Amino acid sequence: MPGEMGLIVVVGSFKRRNNPSMTIPAELLQRLAAAKSVTVLTGAGVSAESGVPTFRDAQTGLWAEFSPEELATPRAFQRNPRLVWEWYDWRRKLVAGAKPNAAHLALAEMQNLFLRFHLITQNVDGLHQRARSRNVIEIHGNITRTKCSEEGTIVSAWKDAGDVPPKCPACGGLLRPDVVWFEEPMPEPEMRQAMTASTRCDFFFSIGTSTVVYPAAALHSEALRSGATVVEINPQPTPFTGQAHFALAGAAGVVLPELMKALKAFRAS
Ligand code: OAD
Repeated sequence: MPGEMGLIVVVGSFKRRNNPSMTIPAELLQRLAAAKSVTVLTGAGVSAESGVPTFRDAQTGLWAEFSPEELATPRAFQRNPRLVWEWYDWRRKLVAGAKPNAAHLALAEMQNLFLRFHLITQNVDGLHQRARSRNVIEIHGNITRTKCSEEGTIVSAWKDAGDVPPKCPACGGLLRPDVVWFEEPMPEPEMRQAMTASTRCDFFFSIGTSTVVYPAAALHSEALRSGATVVEINPQPTPFTGQAHFALAGAAGVVLPELMKALKAFRAS
């Protein structure tokens, strides 16, 4: 059983139209208001309300027949580089047209309320930064960057000679997005920072992630083991829900602004 308090799970359907406010447990607010160091881990669910599809939602349209696991691997790229490049190109364009939503904005506001605040994201869309979050720890890379698949160097410009994927101007190797694929090593400095932020916080949020992809999913357990109060925000239960001190069932873009409002009111009271 994590922490001293035992398990508190707040489960409920959360309807934006009919139920615009949710009760944030007083115990959660007390603990959060007293926190000196807050760490947040986000996943694809945080960008869902910006129109960026999550990974484990069914894919739609052109890409319905492929699972992301089939596209986000070095083997998939070796087998069919054009397919993988085009899938990421589609996602890149989607992200370029998307805007940060209320969840991104609430997290950008939250960073100013605590002595120490770390935002770790599995998302590669850059929407946290566009919402003005600072020092975002991106553990799965960033889709807006491109690198050479041979040399690993970041490539910011190349000649459009009609190749798909385009070729590295320096060595002629195929270009690929600068994201972490399944079976690839995690970026070392980012993982170190993420682990430190998770083990040294007194409050940890897991928001919009299915908690099935490791090592990101291990950060929750590290935070629990280190004594942090852990809160999950997700409309659906996950394998981690039963271990969280508090589980707020709802969309991040609804729950986070409510939480910020309640926290400010609590501090002012
Ligand atoms: P998933 O697609 O696995 O999970 C998204 C989670 O977001 C689910 O648990 C949904 O219930 C939840 N969700 C959906 N809408 C939400 C909303 N409005 N507010 C809050 N939560 C919502 O995405 P991740 O957990 O991020 O890795 O996936 C982890 C990694 O697997 C990704 O970074 C990616 C993927 O394959 C790589 O590409 C390496």
